[in-house]
Amino acid sequence: MLSIVSIALLATHVLGQSPGPKIILTNDDGWATAQVHAQNDALKSSGFDVVLSCPAINRSGTGSSTAPPTVLTTECEFSTCPVGSPAEGFNASDPRLNYVNSFPTSVDAVRFGIQTLAPEFFNSPPDFVVSGPNVGTNLGSGIQGSRTVGAACEAALEGIPSTAFSASTAQQVSFTTLDTDPGSTLSIAARIYANLTAHFTQVLVGSGAPILPPGITVNVNFPPTDSCAAASDFSWVFTRILANPNATDVETCGTTHLPAESDVVRGPGCFASVSVFNASTKADVDAATQGIVLSKVANLPLLLPYGFLAVRLPSPPENPFFLPSPSPPPTPTKMPKEATKTKRKAAEKTEKAPRKGKKDPKAPKRALSAYMFFSQDWRERIKAENPDAGFGEVGKLLGAKWKELDDEEKKPYVEQAARDKTRAEDEKAAYDTGKKSGGSEEDDEED
Ligand SMILES: *[C@@H]1O[C@H](CO)[C@@H](O)[C@H](O)[C@H]1NC(C)=O
Ligand SMILES: *[C@@H]1O[C@H](CO)[C@@H](O)[C@H](O)[C@H]1NC(C)=O
Ligand SMILES: *[C@@H]1O[C@H](CO)[C@@H](O)[C@H](O)[C@H]1NC(C)=O
Ligand SMILES: *[C@@H]1O[C@H](CO)[C@@H](O)[C@H](O)[C@H]1NC(C)=O
Ligand SMILES: *[C@@H]1O[C@H](CO)[C@@H](O)[C@H](O)[C@H]1NC(C)=O
Repeated sequence: MLSIVSIALLATHVLGQSPGPKIILTNDDGWATAQVHAQNDALKSSGFDVVLSCPAINRSGTGSSTAPPTVLTTECEFSTCPVGSPAEGFNASDPRLNYVNSFPTSVDAVRFGIQTLAPEFFNSPPDFVVSGPNVGTNLGSGIQGSRTVGAACEAALEGIPSTAFSASTAQQVSFTTLDTDPGSTLSIAARIYANLTAHFTQVLVGSGAPILPPGITVNVNFPPTDSCAAASDFSWVFTRILANPNATDVETCGTTHLPAESDVVRGPGCFASVSVFNASTKADVDAATQGIVLSKVANLPLLLPYGFLAVRLPSPPENPFFLPSPSPPPTPTKMPKEATKTKRKAAEKTEKAPRKGKKDPKAPKRALSAYMFFSQDWRERIKAENPDAGFGEVGKLLGAKWKELDDEEKKPYVEQAARDKTRAEDEKAAYDTGKKSGGSEEDDEED
């Protein structure tokens, strides 16, 4: 099968242009793990120009001091290089596979990749840094001590856009496992996560320059593959690093509260979390910055907080690297019929809607639908009745409950929505008059 990107590459080769976007691939589990080799394969077959720069040995969970690389006093992991090998080395048959022996090597390896290998192989800085997927998740306050996240932050602070990826179903096994035992759970999981990571990277890098705002990076975590047997079973949820009911997040589907990434990844369903955070503090960013990144990943099959309320945002602008996908991206498998309808309606609406400029923070809040008021009212009750349900499951239960209600039971929420509609219309009228000059920007009021 010729992938879309291979076609794009053929096209660029014919035109005599440079190959795909330049990627430094790094991790903290070491240069010879199955996960990072699967990732290297997937990025390459997606058309990226990849150079791998990873620790010589497993540095997962080690301390935070830094030191110059040193000659190896033990073998590289899985005996991939002997004692006495140089501090920085590469695979003689594939010089794009590089190791660095220092401590904590994840940060030193990504630095070496950006500062030494990129000029050598790309003759320019890399376009993007992929850190991971890590063996094990990095969620919530746990990201503070993560080398995988640390490497993505280091890249961002050096001005290179990056994302940290972490995987639930994974172990530090040798890359040779991918060939000797391709049907094992770990080999299959490594390939699935590698596909998802390559797809995410395609969408984000393909969204055009600047790939990400400066000083921030993105944390992606994948749930276990137990009940998610293929990359196409997964969908993506825009999340926050830490739960915070007081924070106002980017508005999605009429709510301004994003779920915490750990609830999404540890909950049921095949949901990968996507959180945007400050590369210096590792704290959540403001709603405006979240909004910029949300619009950049809009081409993923993206689900938003209420589980079954899915939207597709407008496509990113024409991108320099990839041709448009000939087939639609995989859609979540087990969505209630309602969702498809909502999704299609939302897609139609957004296609027609003109692209909006930066959102005025003083702009009036849109009206919430009857369903949103119902959700606010019932969410805690559903959660209390189903203590084991994750956020996706709660969303589905809420949807089912709403369908069960008769008109009389829905009435209070319908009335609340009607009042809120009037409120929103009044606020909008006041706001529009206040704006005086004919800024014709139309805010979409219906829900
Ligand atoms: C080195 O590269 C060759 C060719 O791609 C590959 O067969 C071999 O397994 C690699 N070894 C390591 C340690 O990466
Ligand atoms: C890698 O290091 C981590 C942290 O010390 C440890 O938990 C893990 O078992 C190590 N993996 C291997 C294959 O040694
Ligand atoms: C990963 O992608 C390749 C190429 O698109 C595909 O052939 C393969 O089946 C995918 N693997 C998984 C586990 O989804
Ligand atoms: C990150 O946080 C630091 C410290 O609060 C702040 O100075 C900086 O502006 C923040 N960066 C971004 C991109 O928000
Ligand atoms: C939210 O605000 C309440 C009341 O001011 C406070 O008690 C709580 O700690 C805040 N929560 C967070 C996560 O900031």
